[in-house]
Amino acid sequence: MIILLVSTKESQIWYNVENMNKNIVCIGAGYIGGPTMAVIAKMNPDRKVVVVDINAERIAAWNSPDYALPIYEPGLVDVVKEVRGRNLFFSTDIESAVKECDIIFVGVNTPTKMFGRGAGRASDLQYWEATARQIKGCATSDKIVIEKSTLPVRTAAAMEAILNNDARHRFTVLSNPEFLAEGTAIKDLMEPDRVLIGGPQDENGLKAIECAVEIYASWVPRGKILTTNVWSAELTKLAANAFLAQRVSSINAIAGLCEATGADVDEVARVIGADSRIGPKFLKAGPGFGGSCFKKDVLNLVYLCETFGLHTAAEYWAGVIKMNDHQQERIVSRLFKEMFNTLANKKIALFGFAFKADTGDTRETPAATVARLLAEEHVRISVSDPKALPNARMDLAGLEGVVYEENEYRAAEDADAVVVMTDWGHYRTLDWRRIFDSMRKPALVFDTRNCLDARSLKAIGFKVLNIGK
Ligand code: NAD
Ligand code: UGA
Repeated sequence: MIILLVSTKESQIWYNVENMNKNIVCIGAGYIGGPTMAVIAKMNPDRKVVVVDINAERIAAWNSPDYALPIYEPGLVDVVKEVRGRNLFFSTDIESAVKECDIIFVGVNTPTKMFGRGAGRASDLQYWEATARQIKGCATSDKIVIEKSTLPVRTAAAMEAILNNDARHRFTVLSNPEFLAEGTAIKDLMEPDRVLIGGPQDENGLKAIECAVEIYASWVPRGKILTTNVWSAELTKLAANAFLAQRVSSINAIAGLCEATGADVDEVARVIGADSRIGPKFLKAGPGFGGSCFKKDVLNLVYLCETFGLHTAAEYWAGVIKMNDHQQERIVSRLFKEMFNTLANKKIALFGFAFKADTGDTRETPAATVARLLAEEHVRISVSDPKALPNARMDLAGLEGVVYEENEYRAAEDADAVVVMTDWGHYRTLDWRRIFDSMRKPALVFDTRNCLDARSLKAIGFKVLNIGK
C-alpha cells in the first residue's frame, strides 16, 4: 500500500494513493492533448481518460461520428476508433471532469507573448494561469497536476502558489513534457526514446512522481522513464528543442557555404552524421524549421537567459533563430536571381505548405514566409498541399494574388517555377514531364527539401535549384 504524507501548515493529511481513483483529465484538446491522451487511454484500459477544452468546435470534431478529427496525424484515427467511448471521452464540461478525477494533465497552448514585458520572446502564460484557477475553483479533492505544455523553468512554482493558497485541498505539481513530433506522434508515443517526469524531491513529490510513472509503465519500459526534479524537467524540454533547432540551423548555415563552394550539403551531412558522436538525424538542410514549438521555445530560452543576466548565452541561442529566418530570405533571393532579377507577374507554384510532411499543421511554416516575400515582389502564387490547404487559406488570408489548388498539376499550369516547400512523399512520383509541358519556359524547380531526383528533372528540361548544392 502506498501512503502519501502531505504536510500543510495547519495539519498533516494522510493521502492514500491506492484510494485515488485512476481517472485522468487532460485540459487542452490540441495537437498534444488529443494524441497523447488517446495513447494513454489505449494502453491503460482500466483508466477513464477525459479530454476537455473551451473550444466547443474542436471537441465536436474529436467526437464527430465519421472521425473527422480536428488534426491529421498518421494512425491517430485508428487509436481514437479503438478507445473513444470505451475509456476515452472528449467534453467541454471542464468542471465535472476535474471533480471526478485525481490526475490532471494540462496541455493548453503557451504561445510567445506578443505584448508588454518580454514581448516577442517570453511565453504567454495567461492560458496556464487561467487553467490553474479553474482547477482550484472546481476541485473537490486533492489532485496531482501534471504540466504537459512546454513552460518556462519555475512555472510549477507559480502553479503551486495558486493551487495551494489555502489548505482546502492539496495539489502536487509535476512536469511531464512531451517530446513527440508531429507527423510521427503515434509512433513517438508508442515507442518513446524516453519519458520524463519531474517533481518535488520530498516524500509527497516522489509518491506523486510514482503515480505518473505508473501511467506510462503500462507500455514504456521502466528504464526509459526518467525522473528528475521539477526544474530540470521544465528546462530539459526547452533545451531539447533548442538543441534540435540548433542542428537544423547549423546544417543550413553549412548549406549556404556549399552553394558558394561547390560542396554538396547532403554529402557533407552524410559523412559528419556517420560520426557516432554526432549521429545522422536532424542534419537535413531545407527551408528552415517551422512548427509551433522550435521558434517559441528557443525564444523562451533567450528570454530566460536574459532574465538571469546571461546575455552571451542569450545571443548564442538568438543566433539559431536569426539563421533560420535568413534561410527563407535566401530562397527568395535565389529565385529572384535565377529568374532574371524580376518576379513581378510571374507565376510560382508552392508545392507543400505544411511545416513538414504528414501533418496539416502550418504554424510557423517556412512556406508562409516565402509566400509573403514573393507577394511583396508581386508574384502570382498558387499553393497546393494534400493536408494543409484549409490552414494555408487562413494563414494567407488577405494576401493578394494567391490561389489554392488541390491538384498539383493544375497548380503548376503556366507557372514559371515550382518551389517544393514540404517533403510530401508523393511529390517524387508525380508526372514531372506533364508538369514541365504545362509550364512557361524556362521552367524552374526549386527543391528546397532536396527530396526530388534532380538528375531526371534536368533530363526533362527543368532548370533545378537545390539547397546546399
Ligand atoms: P494547441 O493550440 O493545438 O492546443 C491547445 C488547446 O488548449 C486548444 O484547443 C485551446 O482551446 C485549449 N485551451 C486553452 N486554454 C484553455 C483553458 N483555459 N481550458 C481548456 N482548454 C484550453 O496547442 P498544442 O500544439 O497542443 O500545444 C500545447 C502545448 O504542448 C504547448 O505548450 C506546446 O509547446 C506543447 N507541445 C506541443 C507539441 C506539438 O507537437 N504540437 C509537442 C510537444 C509539446
Ligand atoms: C519538434 C521536436 O522534434 C519534438 O521532439 C518536440 O516535442 C516538438 O518539436 C515540440 O515541442 O513541439 P516537430 O516540430 O513536430 O517536433 O517536428 P520536427 O520533426 O522536429 O521538425 C521541426 C522542423 O524542423 C520542421 O519544419 C522540419 O522540416 C525541420 N527539420 C527537421 C529540418 O529542416 N531538418 C531536419 O533534419 C529535421
